[in-house]
Amino acid sequence: MTDQPRLDQNPTAPAPLSSSSASAAPGVLPQFTDPPSSRRRRRYAIAGTGHRAGMYVGALTGEHADVGELVAWLDPNPARMAWYDGEAGRALGLPGAAGLPQYGPDGLETMLGEQAVDVLIVTSVDRTHAELVDRALRAGADVIVEKPLTTDVEGCRLISRAIAETGRDVIVTFNYRYAPRNSTLRQVIDSGVIGDVTGVHFEWVLDTVHGADYFRRWHRDKANSGGLLVHKASHHFDLVNWWIADEPVRVFASGGLRFYGDKNAAERGQSDRPDRGTGTSGGPFSLDLRADPRLDALYLQAEHHDGYRRDQDPFAPGVTIEDNMAVLVDYRRGATLTYSLNAHSPWEGYRVSVNGTAGRAELTVVERGFVQLDDQGNAVLDPSASEVDAPPDDVRPERDTLVVQRHWQRPEEVRIPDGIGGHGGGDAILLMEAFRRDLLVAPDPLRRAADYADGLRAVAVGIAANQSLVTGQPVHIADLDLNARGDGRIA
Ligand SMILES: NC(=O)c1ccc[n+]([C@@H]2O[C@H](COP(=O)([O-])OP(=O)(O)OC[C@H]3O[C@@H](n4cnc5c(N)ncnc54)[C@H](O)[C@@H]3O)[C@@H](O)[C@H]2O)c1
Repeated sequence: MTDQPRLDQNPTAPAPLSSSSASAAPGVLPQFTDPPSSRRRRRYAIAGTGHRAGMYVGALTGEHADVGELVAWLDPNPARMAWYDGEAGRALGLPGAAGLPQYGPDGLETMLGEQAVDVLIVTSVDRTHAELVDRALRAGADVIVEKPLTTDVEGCRLISRAIAETGRDVIVTFNYRYAPRNSTLRQVIDSGVIGDVTGVHFEWVLDTVHGADYFRRWHRDKANSGGLLVHKASHHFDLVNWWIADEPVRVFASGGLRFYGDKNAAERGQSDRPDRGTGTSGGPFSLDLRADPRLDALYLQAEHHDGYRRDQDPFAPGVTIEDNMAVLVDYRRGATLTYSLNAHSPWEGYRVSVNGTAGRAELTVVERGFVQLDDQGNAVLDPSASEVDAPPDDVRPERDTLVVQRHWQRPEEVRIPDGIGGHGGGDAILLMEAFRRDLLVAPDPLRRAADYADGLRAVAVGIAANQSLVTGQPVHIADLDLNARGDGRIA
């Protein structure tokens, strides 16, 4: 189980050396039995053939092709479906494209029926998740849905009702849980070495390459993404819910758009910027889609179908999401989370401190220590593939460090085992569990597989935080009634 194709993440995201490791430390990968020879492969269709779909296409035409097969595409944009059809054909060793049938969003039920789809993989724009999940479940398919489960209260209720009424299965792909650094922190907390958790302090910083990317794409409109408190922080809130095995109950948030957006740029005297990155010279905040063949094929060559520009200037009008966010969350058993997210930092990574009655655990992750510029002043997306030869940084080296300190003892560093592939080693293990869950040799002691209730608890914090930003008041998650007539597993 090696050689993950690098189709797994956005090219603006950091790719530290650890993400290209091809072998994992002993004990990191779950063990699976071989599928019985009599078992038929499950039939998968992909809804949303943008960047993230690549990870699932790679898995189902490669490592997991023995247990699942791709049978159809669904997307409003035919150019993106056609591109993946070509990729799938190549990966399967066919003489040309795979020739899988293509459907638009209105054809979801037709596709599920005509192609006898067992599982719909939802990798579409966040705003569309709830409707696609609801319709797929009601049409008789199970669902694997990318985070965030949905973006608003109505979406939570729609999905909760569909699950309650159909009894079908929904997996939410929280890949961050599977990154060995995050799994190891869960093990430390679980072991009781720091005692009962009384509070968590969590700071996440996105740099001016990856952070800016949320302000170039559909994410910049809060109606599409729920803002970074839902789109991005749902990963982080899920981690905290899972690390401390508790439920968020009350949320207060403060924040705003203080760096990106046209108004901030004008105030800094930077109004005269090109409205997109391709073919212009907008400096380190611009992205030229021609710089990456996949960006070019999936977006620039697909623009004439839907007018979507993936390279908008982060300072162009229309940004309705925040770039500086602070959130306080009270947990049911009494712990408090203090959380902050910044999207224009000079480095990318996170720091988590977990305080317990017997001590403290501190995880520090540097995914990209600094943003490298080329000699034209543009940000270098993949320094390993670039002519620019910048030595690693000694002050902020790219590494993961987990330190545990018990009261009246010296701090100790806990070794983090190697994982494989992107997102801190999370993607590869996530895929194994998503496609081979029923073949696991033993139940996962860390309970990393996330179901819909976990997805709901994670977005609940972001949705409540968004409401708090509007009202200036704390929000009780129970008052949102996210589960309205669902199965009542969160409230
Ligand atoms: N877990 C992770 O680390 C991770 C990483 C990246 C993206 N994601 C998630 O994956 C999803 C897709 O993100 P992306 O970066 O690939 O975006 P993208 O813009 O590259 O792709 C989104 C696709 O959805 C399509 N689409 C729009 N409306 C649709 C509809 N009604 N039905 C079906 N398809 C529709 C678009 O045409 C596009 O092809 C998002 O929900 C995002 O949060 C998760």
